[in-house]
Amino acid sequence: MADTDWADWQRSWDRQQEWYMPDREERFRVMLDMVEALVGPKPRVLDLACGTGSITDRLLRRFPEAVSTGVDLDPALLAIARGTFEGDGRVSFVTADLKDPAWTAALPYDTYDAVLTATALHWLHSGPLTTLYGQVAGLVREGGVFMNADHMIDTATPRINAAERAQRHARMDREKAEGVLDWADWWALAAKDPVLAEPTARRYEIYGEHADGDMPAPGWHADTLRAAGFGEARPVWCSPSDTLLLAVK
Ligand SMILES: C[S@@+](CC[C@H](N)C(=O)[O-])C[C@H]1O[C@@H](n2cnc3c(N)ncnc32)[C@H](O)[C@@H]1O
Repeated sequence: MADTDWADWQRSWDRQQEWYMPDREERFRVMLDMVEALVGPKPRVLDLACGTGSITDRLLRRFPEAVSTGVDLDPALLAIARGTFEGDGRVSFVTADLKDPAWTAALPYDTYDAVLTATALHWLHSGPLTTLYGQVAGLVREGGVFMNADHMIDTATPRINAAERAQRHARMDREKAEGVLDWADWWALAAKDPVLAEPTARRYEIYGEHADGDMPAPGWHADTLRAAGFGEARPVWCSPSDTLLLAVK
């Protein structure tokens, strides 16, 4: 493990994710602005479906006194996360399936100031996501926050959606022709890496390419979070394709 360049894997993960979401860093910045605004600069954070720990990385760069728990099920992405933050006492990682009714029992803390997630919950269908939102409401302290940055589709605007999608895919096609790695290309690289090959094989047994889920509209997320016990919920940022939804307990 000692020879693996974790920073290099982080960079290539970021480039691959940015191909889908060019505004990804802006989304993280606004997320952390809202963390600071609502719970201050020393938060205890749950990085939900953390992947390689992208949110945790931005969090600790900006708020060195924060602490973070990352939770995910993917053994390869967690290997990169654990390698990156090895020896950092502010960070711990938990392997858990967010669809497991008992997943919160594996966490090191009972409550968090902020539960943050990005580009992940569209892997769940709306039934399991409703259950998850109920569990998240139980983890966020009174006055704490939950934020979900993800692709959220409002089916009431089909012409806008189709135009946005066509333009986004045209850009992606151009960049792909210039050599950008997509999801499948990136995983093909991981499968060839001496350290990541084994956890990559396991993640394909767990997920296949990736799990199927839903992308409900921002209003659905806000309503479901309020029904789960949050006092307020609304978008605090959006791009043509993505929304950052903030809920306050
Ligand atoms: C596209 S990645 C995003 C990772 C990270 N949040 C980021 O922005 O780079 C989606 C993540 O959701 C995780 N995930 C999806 N379904 C999950 C589940 N049921 N339990 C735990 N993690 C899950 C995947 O393993 C993956 O790491």
